[in-house]
Amino acid sequence: MCKRYNVAVIGAGDMGARHVKGWIEAGHHVMILVDMDEQRLRKVAEENNVPYTATDYKEAVSRPEVDIVSICLPLAFHMPVTLYAAGQGKHIFCEKPLASSLEQAQQMEEAVHNAGVKFGLGFQRNLSPGIAVVKKWVEEDKFGRPLVISSDLLQEVRPKRVMHDKNGNQGPIVDTCCHYFLMWQTILQSKPRKVYASGGIFAKDRPEIAHFEQLAVDTAVITVEYESGDIGTMTISWALAKDTKMTNRNDRLFGPKGGVQGPFNIFTIPELELKLMEGDQSERVAIHQLNLHAEQFKLFAQALQDDSQEYISFSTGKEMMKLSYAVLESIETGKAVYVS
Ligand SMILES: NC(=O)c1ccc[n+]([C@@H]2O[C@H](COP(=O)([O-])OP(=O)(O)OC[C@H]3O[C@@H](n4cnc5c(N)ncnc54)[C@H](O)[C@@H]3O)[C@@H](O)[C@H]2O)c1
Repeated sequence: MCKRYNVAVIGAGDMGARHVKGWIEAGHHVMILVDMDEQRLRKVAEENNVPYTATDYKEAVSRPEVDIVSICLPLAFHMPVTLYAAGQGKHIFCEKPLASSLEQAQQMEEAVHNAGVKFGLGFQRNLSPGIAVVKKWVEEDKFGRPLVISSDLLQEVRPKRVMHDKNGNQGPIVDTCCHYFLMWQTILQSKPRKVYASGGIFAKDRPEIAHFEQLAVDTAVITVEYESGDIGTMTISWALAKDTKMTNRNDRLFGPKGGVQGPFNIFTIPELELKLMEGDQSERVAIHQLNLHAEQFKLFAQALQDDSQEYISFSTGKEMMKLSYAVLESIETGKAVYVS
């Protein structure tokens, strides 16, 4: 049985609330919750019986009883909170994306290494049973090779405006494509070789985000070639019209012998349905979704207890950042970019 760790959750927004519930479901004790928005803080703490709250993360992190600091703040805070927590000798679980730049990621990694603590990264969507099933079908060669995997994400201008700030959350290529890139790599079991992409700032005239000094690219069509010869493609936008009726297409994977379509890694619905096609045969496969946050925290806590490798840490986080930056470089230069 795993030890019950004391956790400080930093941030009581969408992810903060999910972290609190996930840690509790994984059998650990969320002893303190932090947010500078006191109303939100009180609500999430009361709903989940969290005994202590604070508005300053340093107050929570420095408590001697805290074993793990779970960071759910906007991207710009991932580095400062990680450095502070490592300095206090705490293990750290941080939301994706890893950092605002590769230099910051390096500083975080050094601080964690020097402190001798562990660091996990929030890619819970990659634990979706949908991904595991599709990966198994690929391994069984149900579809043949090479494969094409496609994903789609179309949304309105985000209500969390900081998502559009080039100096904040850096737009969907950095903030969100990382989930899809990791999913593709996991299913294909291959590393990216080359990227080409077109895109731009389609929401540049929208008044809601006009106050930012620099806007991030919000729309792109992306193609990633893999060492295996497989191809990943994605259309992503956060620039749709308000109250748009556009809907997303399901994830799709196909090869010379067959394919599968469905939501492979959506974590907010309780049941997934995948449509498996082999030759002219097709069948619907129902998959029960898990609380993926609880699953990732169980893995992290087990790695602490066993002093084993974290499920996802710096190398994967940096790999995803490099691929996102390669996409942005391709959009800016109009050229294909090779990923080492
Ligand atoms: N893994 C996933 O599936 C997933 C999904 C969405 C977001 N995220 C990531 O989670 C992180 C947080 O995103 P979110 O959607 O929860 O954002 P959010 O805006 O809902 O919540 C962030 C919270 O942080 C608080 N905050 C900001 N600065 C603070 C500070 N200095 N001190 C104390 N509180 C502060 C805000 O008041 C807010 O309540 C981001 O890195 C985002 O990319 C991950």
